[in-house]
Amino acid sequence: MRITLTVIKADIGSIGGHIKPGERLKSRVRDFIKDKGTKLIHDFYLSSTGDDIAILMCHSRGEGDADIHKLAWDAFIAGTELAKEMGLYGAGQDLLKDAFSGNVRGMGPAVAELEFDERPNEPFLFFAADKTDPGAYNLPVFLSYSDPMYNSGLILSPHMAKGFDFHIMDVSHLKGDRVIVLGAPEQVYDIAALLRDNQRFVVEKVYSRTTAEVATSISTTRLHNIAGKYTGKDDPVMLSRVQGAFPACGEALSPFVKGHLVAGFMRGSHNGPLMPVKQNQSISYFDGPPVVSCAAFCVHEGRLTEAADVFDHPFWDHVRAKVSQKAIDIRDQGFSGPAMLGYDELEYGGIVERLKKIDKKFKVRKPPIESK
Ligand code: F6R
Ligand code: MG
Ligand code: MG
Repeated sequence: MRITLTVIKADIGSIGGHIKPGERLKSRVRDFIKDKGTKLIHDFYLSSTGDDIAILMCHSRGEGDADIHKLAWDAFIAGTELAKEMGLYGAGQDLLKDAFSGNVRGMGPAVAELEFDERPNEPFLFFAADKTDPGAYNLPVFLSYSDPMYNSGLILSPHMAKGFDFHIMDVSHLKGDRVIVLGAPEQVYDIAALLRDNQRFVVEKVYSRTTAEVATSISTTRLHNIAGKYTGKDDPVMLSRVQGAFPACGEALSPFVKGHLVAGFMRGSHNGPLMPVKQNQSISYFDGPPVVSCAAFCVHEGRLTEAADVFDHPFWDHVRAKVSQKAIDIRDQGFSGPAMLGYDELEYGGIVERLKKIDKKFKVRKPPIESK
């Protein structure tokens, strides 16, 4: 059976600042999908990560389907009404356009989609990150599809012997999608050279070179490119098929042990370590740290199993403790150097205005009078 997995995610308002959407708001969005989605979708799963609500849908309508996108958009509009009634903070924050225009791409919500012929058993992972941007997945995706230190299947399994193709997007290019396809292992240095720049180059899709099947899909939205100003970080989602010709579930998870430093954290303007968290986790310290959740499923004839919360395990408690220490370490540095992002990524205009004012007060010293 050919199916499509579509996850659409938005921040439509939260409690206590940018902390969590709360159960009432999630129920409103869930009820909307249940009520209006019956004819369109086979199944769905609704969860939150930090202040974002994600709707994962399973259907047979292909990628970029207007009705599926509208269903999620309308559910978020219905949720926004309640968020406003409840006086939630940032109600409707990620719904950047007034009217739906056929596809939520470019309208604020993040979207990732995978269309494929269902294998007899089809396990996959759904990742959602908050207080960060799509480049947060660059390093883990690079490692799990190209490095046998993280994915032992690259050398052990004949099904991954030919490696993977990375589809990488230049998200600074605003007039259309600027994409390059590079293959690992041959072009791994070129891939690394691009993916080191998390704010400009992001992985959009990965394909198996053994079976030509799609392996992973990541949202590439950069909100400030849509809105022209800061409206919050992009809080990306990712769908990854696992097992067989793809990394095993644990191989896809293994790079997240790093808690690598990503852009985001407080005011979307800092670097902080990415903490793997449980489903529906809220945000706390310094509006962070940046978090990533992951739910594992099998999908069969379009129906989802219950979610397995893969970061809800004693092993990840240890990782979380290490990541907390890493967060404290970089916060010890306050605003200095790598603790805060460069000017292009600061997302708040205040400091730029301040620097403009200060700049006018600089004086260039007269050159010293040369002695004869
Ligand atoms: C980051 C984030 C928060 C806010 C911060 C200030 O994505 O959502 O860190 O930037 O709480 O919020 P405002 O400017 O809305 O008062
Ligand atoms: Mg928010
Ligand atoms: Mg968010």
